[in-house]
Amino acid sequence: MDFLLPVVVLAGLFLALAGALLLAERVLVNYGVCTIDINSGGRTLEVDGGQSLLNSLYGEEIFIPSACGGRGSCGYCKVTVLSGGGPLLPTETPYLTRREARANTRLACQVKVRNDVELRIPEDLLNVKLFAARVESATTLTHDIKEIKLSLISPEEIEQRPGQYVQVQAPSPEGPVFRAYSISSPVYEKDRVELVVRLVPGGIGSTYIHNLNAGDPVTLTGPFGEFHLNEDPNVEIICVGGGCGMAPMRNIIHTVLERWPERSIWLFFGCRTTKDIFYYDEFKALQKDHPNFHVIYALSDPLGPGEEWEGETGFIHLSADKYLEPDVPRQAFLCGPPPMIEAVTGILAKKGLKPEDIFYDKF
Ligand code: FES
Repeated sequence: MDFLLPVVVLAGLFLALAGALLLAERVLVNYGVCTIDINSGGRTLEVDGGQSLLNSLYGEEIFIPSACGGRGSCGYCKVTVLSGGGPLLPTETPYLTRREARANTRLACQVKVRNDVELRIPEDLLNVKLFAARVESATTLTHDIKEIKLSLISPEEIEQRPGQYVQVQAPSPEGPVFRAYSISSPVYEKDRVELVVRLVPGGIGSTYIHNLNAGDPVTLTGPFGEFHLNEDPNVEIICVGGGCGMAPMRNIIHTVLERWPERSIWLFFGCRTTKDIFYYDEFKALQKDHPNFHVIYALSDPLGPGEEWEGETGFIHLSADKYLEPDVPRQAFLCGPPPMIEAVTGILAKKGLKPEDIFYDKF
């Protein structure tokens, strides 16, 4: 083991040197005022150089997605840096595909503003806002899932598309961090945001949210998300989810039925046991008013003693396979664990859906 000692000493020296260089740069180097040009003159910012691009943009209320507080460990904060960003760093490459790297995609938290920078940012992101909200209610839905209703205070309203998400600010030992949660309330309820959050043991965001009570203040940013609903009412909508993957489904279903009361829409929702079932009565009531809305819940685990269930059993992709006719014009939205998404995608492809008509959110 003696050979380890020099390695440890060298590593320690290297870390100390890197820390000293960072400190020296922070204290001694003045980059002055730098210009950030966004979308070829669409917006121009003047910021103090020396901070990360992510922080510079946040300072100007441009809220790029970020789940790790800028520590370079979530890979969410992608922007296109056309010039002035310096070379791609080893801390960025694990989060970028080769194609993204070739297209000048960078992690905004890793790029330091040392000179003028040219950026390309999707217009949607420029419209993201910081919201102050208050908890209206916190309701237990299952043994590990809670529904949180937030009333928006400032701004008072949110403009969202179905299937989008917000980022909730949660305290952590290293300072505030943001965690992403899909919006479960429909787009026409502009004065509120509802979330469906599963408690992840040790999870910073979900622990914070599960401990919220009515009246507590909450800070969030949003809306984010790429999903665009097909506006043709003849295109059937397929929603498939499991667990807290319910949130965007509920948003999409209520939004679609309010706008096109007779549009065909299916919900396939996978649960392990009857203990994981929620919103079933709400959807069954909606189905009574809209016979074009089809609700299928399926249990994947065998029934336990005393458990009663007359609905579908087995993994949810089997139900999708059983009920969906082939070759119907459709758009599908899937939200759940990767094996579920893969299995359902295979079934939908078999039914004739093209990859561009299948949107998914894996978690
Ligand atoms: S903010 Fe998480 S990687 Fe940049």
